[in-house]
Amino acid sequence: MMYLQSPSARPARPARSARAGSAARGWSMNPRIRDWHGKRVWVIGASTGIGAETARLLLEKGARVALSARREAALHRVMHGHPQALALPLDVTVPGQVLQARDRLLAEWQGVDLVLLVAGAYNEMRADDIDLAVVDQLLDLNLRSVFRCLDAVLPTLLAQGEGGIGVVSSVAGYTGLPKALAYGPTKAALINLSESLYFDLHPRGISVYLINPGFVATPATEQNDFAMPGLISARCAAHEIVSGMEKGRFHIHFPKRFTNWLRFARLLPYRLYFPLIHKVTGL
Ligand SMILES: NC(=O)c1ccc[n+]([C@@H]2O[C@H](COP(=O)([O-])OP(=O)(O)OC[C@H]3O[C@@H](n4cnc5c(N)ncnc54)[C@H](OP(=O)(O)O)[C@@H]3O)[C@@H](O)[C@H]2O)c1
Repeated sequence: MMYLQSPSARPARPARSARAGSAARGWSMNPRIRDWHGKRVWVIGASTGIGAETARLLLEKGARVALSARREAALHRVMHGHPQALALPLDVTVPGQVLQARDRLLAEWQGVDLVLLVAGAYNEMRADDIDLAVVDQLLDLNLRSVFRCLDAVLPTLLAQGEGGIGVVSSVAGYTGLPKALAYGPTKAALINLSESLYFDLHPRGISVYLINPGFVATPATEQNDFAMPGLISARCAAHEIVSGMEKGRFHIHFPKRFTNWLRFARLLPYRLYFPLIHKVTGL
């Protein structure tokens, strides 16, 4: 258990690392990435949607990319024409498969520069329709699997003393929203987790990226029967993610016209927040 200490009881603060100092001077929270050539990137959740387009874009920019997801044939379609790509099929909910893929990746590359945790799923749920099996699936895929991947890759990143980790959460994690009874809490947890990771990893030379997309047209949103404000393509989302990392951002969110509106709404008192969201969504 952690106890809060009075200021006088706190140990002396360690000197800020040169890396932290330079990041602060440049107003970027992570070191900027100027060149992707030869960078070793592992994208987990790369067979379709945001992960597939991000993997494609990084391959086009010259990175070496390892692609993971359950559907191997889909991974090969994304890799087509890029001999520097590596397919590492896995089910991220199976701990042994994540570790096996990690071992294959390290045997091939002897290290890794960036791990992007994209795999996830959305299920609509409301209070009159709670399905515990679905809740468990979402918790396992969207949240526990992120811990599984962190457990698999952090020892390597920490031993290297450099590299980065990106977690794809969602604007649905900012605040409670209708229909997101199970999905929203998994994504809120990822926002909190990424913030905690930054405290631990940034001083050790590891970049952390919290990625919060708004609505993106992918197989996951095809099922939505409601208007999706600010909907963008998966290719556009990939450009936002890659450019956010290049600029050294911690919080990469897009499209800004939608995400900034939600970020403002979450600052409102609840007596204003609830009627506003009800009015906008009709839910
Ligand atoms: N689309 C949006 O509007 C939106 C908005 C905010 C956040 N997000 C988040 O963005 C991420 C990507 O979503 P998307 O919209 O691009 O959906 P998507 O096209 O359905 O992609 C989901 C990816 O996760 C992989 N995946 C699912 N279960 C897996 C498992 N058990 N093991 C390994 N990989 C698994 C899928 O591959 P396989 O099926 O081949 O395993 C696929 O590559 C998700 O975390 C989602 O919550 C999406």
